[in-house]
Formats: sequence, structure tokens, C-alpha cells
Amino acid sequence: MLEFKQNIRGNVALGVNPLGCKQEVLNEIDYVKNKGTFAGPKKVLIIGASSSYGLATRISLAFGAGADTIGVSFEKGPKNERNLGTAGWYNNIAFREAAEKEGLIAKNFVQDAFSHESKQEVIEYIKNEFGGKVDLVVYSLASGRRTDPDTGETYTSAIKALGEPVVGPNINMQNQDFYTETLEPATEEEIAGTLKVMGGEDWQLWMEALKEADVLADGVLTTNYSYLGTELNRPYYGGGTLGLAKADCDEKAKTINALLADINGKAQIVVATAVTTKASSVIPFFPVYCIGLYKVMTEKGTHETPIMHIDRIYRDMVYGTKAEYDEAGRLRPDSWELDSDTQAETKALIEKLNGENFTSEIAAYDLLYKEFSILSGFMVDNYVEQEVTIEDLKALEY
Ligand code: NAI
Repeated sequence: MLEFKQNIRGNVALGVNPLGCKQEVLNEIDYVKNKGTFAGPKKVLIIGASSSYGLATRISLAFGAGADTIGVSFEKGPKNERNLGTAGWYNNIAFREAAEKEGLIAKNFVQDAFSHESKQEVIEYIKNEFGGKVDLVVYSLASGRRTDPDTGETYTSAIKALGEPVVGPNINMQNQDFYTETLEPATEEEIAGTLKVMGGEDWQLWMEALKEADVLADGVLTTNYSYLGTELNRPYYGGGTLGLAKADCDEKAKTINALLADINGKAQIVVATAVTTKASSVIPFFPVYCIGLYKVMTEKGTHETPIMHIDRIYRDMVYGTKAEYDEAGRLRPDSWELDSDTQAETKALIEKLNGENFTSEIAAYDLLYKEFSILSGFMVDNYVEQEVTIEDLKALEY
């Protein structure tokens, strides 16, 4: 019988519990089903579909709105008893099995979304097998690297400040350490690399390829998740390299809007709230902000996990009546996080945190750690241990 071990390096999870991943997908499906159904899209393509925001989007739209979905992600399957692959691999499988049980199409593409070939394979599938054009395209990629499909050059993103170094507290979840980190300002090359990887270029390439192939339905919507944050994280996030990449997505949204005008399509930037994901856990200082914010928001009853936030975005806002937009036309479900009391209390709380008290109940370290663990299938609610072998895992098909 396989033993699943939670193996953390810094704030990166290396271990995985495939059965826990499956249970978490089922928990998220239950969350959506308990909310009932809503009228939404029917044919959805999600780029970055295997974890956190992308996976939550897929679950909400399939089980809330009855959508057929195509999910593109970059994950690894099991090799041997010491290398079981990645959580997203198992999330994809659990999602497909559950969706197919309900009679929904759930096609997984596990490949590099940045390549031209990937886009063409997805397009061929839409044309020949999906049973209709796509009415929603969700762009939810987070990556550290991207190979330019035309030049073959590989770019790396860097989460860095601009101009001045930033000094502040950070948390290491591997050894429960609270330490001072200095984030150096980005070089020109790092800025350019981050724009190339996390900016909107690939989103635009996807939309151009899909439009060119005539697989987008009239009135198609495409969403892209952004983050703006507040003065508490601006120096290293909104005001840093990632912020520049997000601003590039704002610009590309305008280009995509023009591209889609003749089919009445729309590109929508969605400024989402801070949540615990594999991508956000490695943003310097961010975990400290999160344990302050989550404590305050939990007490106010406004703390959300990705599935709660995403389901509210589509059910209540995008396909509902409660959408809030800013002056730039971005959807703003992050208003709960940005609420002035919430921010003031978070600021006061994180100023009090130190190595002695950060895991105590004055903040929400335990919640952050639990949410982080769930991403790899550990500490999952309703989890029941079962016997499973490496052959069982290898036999699973995505
Ligand atoms: P995540 O790390 O949980 O998921 C990233 C997804 O991208 C995974 O499905 C992964 O397989 C896929 N992916 C990565 N490289 C790929 C490649 N080359 N080809 C195909 N798939 C690939 O990330 P998370 O946090 O859900 O981020 C999604 C988006 O949401 C990002 O744009 C992020 O900036 C944004 N966002 C995140 C917030 C947070 O607090 N986590 C807050 C607001 C926005």
C-alpha cells in the first residue's frame, strides 16, 4: 500500500495524496451543487484548469451551469512510488470522472498551453468532437516559464520589486519560520521576462487562434484573473513585476475586445481576491498578508476559498445581477478584501506579528497551512484512507 507524505520545500509542496485530491474535487462539487443551478455558459474552454482558480471555474460552470468543458493544464502523472506526479494530474481525473457521471463532456489536454501545437489540437477537438462553438474562454494560467512559440526562446518570470528593494517579514511553511526577507529590485531582463510569461500575450494568441478557426460562438466571453491588492502588498505585487504583467493583461483585453467586436464578444478582466494557491504561496511576504487578512475576513464572515470566490463571480456577477465594475471596466469581486475596515484591521494585525505569535490564534496561520495542504490532497475534509497501489494510480487516465 502506498503511503502519502506531505513534503514541503520552503512554500512549495512536493508530496501529493491522489485520493485526497479526488476528495477535495468532490467537496468543491458538493459546494457548488448545494448552491443550486444557474443559467450560464454551455461550452467552456479553461486554460490553466487543473488547480485553484481554474479548477474552481471548471467545477462551478460544469456543476452549477451544466457546461461541457475543455481543460488545458501542464501536469505530471505518476512514475514510481517515490514520484507520484502532481496534484493537478489527479484533479483533472477526478473532475472528468465526476463530470462524465453527470453526462457532461470533460476533455483534458495536458500539454504546454503556450505552444502553437497546443492551440491547434484544442481547436481541432472543438471543431470535430466538442459539439459546438465555445461561449466562454477562461484564462487562468500561472507559470514561472514560457517558451515563445515563434522564436523558441524561453523566458522566466520573477516576482520582484521595481526600483527599490523591499524588506519585510515572510513565512516559511516548511519549518514554520517567520523571517525578514529582502526582495531586490528587478533587472530589465527580469521585467521583460515576467511580462512575457505572466502578461497577456499568450491570452491574445489563444483568442486570435480560436477566432481565426471560427470556433468562438457569437457573444463569446473571455475572462482573465488579475490581482490589484492594496497598499499592504503593492510594493512587491501590484507595484512590482507581477503588477506590470497584470497591467499588460489590461491592455491585451482592449486588443481582444477589438478582435471580438464583430462576433459581439467581450474580454473581461476579473480582479480576484487573494487566495492560497501554489502560485500565490511563493510570492514573497504574501503569506504574512494572507494570515492577517484571512483572520480578519473569517471574523467578518467574508473569507473565501477559490471555489467560494469563483462560484460567486460566475453565479452572482458574470451570469447574475450583482456585478461590480471599476472605472476601467474590470469586474471587482475583490471588494470584500479591499473593504476599508478589513484593510485597516489587517494592517494593524500584521504589524503585531512576529516569530513568537504568528502561529497563534491572533492570526490565521493554521488556516493558511490547511488551505496550502489541501492543494496537494492533505488535510482534506471528508477524506477516508483507502488502499491504493502505484499500479492503480498508473492505470488512471486523464
Ligand atoms: P495555480 O498555480 O493554482 O494554477 C495554474 C494553472 O496553470 C494550473 O492548472 C497549471 O497546470 C497551469 N499551467 C501552468 N503552466 C502551464 C503551461 N505551460 N501550459 C498549460 N497549463 C499550465 O494558479 P492560480 O493562483 O490559480 O492562478 C491563476 C490566475 O489567477 C493567475 O493569473 C493569477 O495571477 C490569478 N490570481 C491569483 C490570485 C491568488 O491569490 N492566487 C489572486 C488573483 C488572481
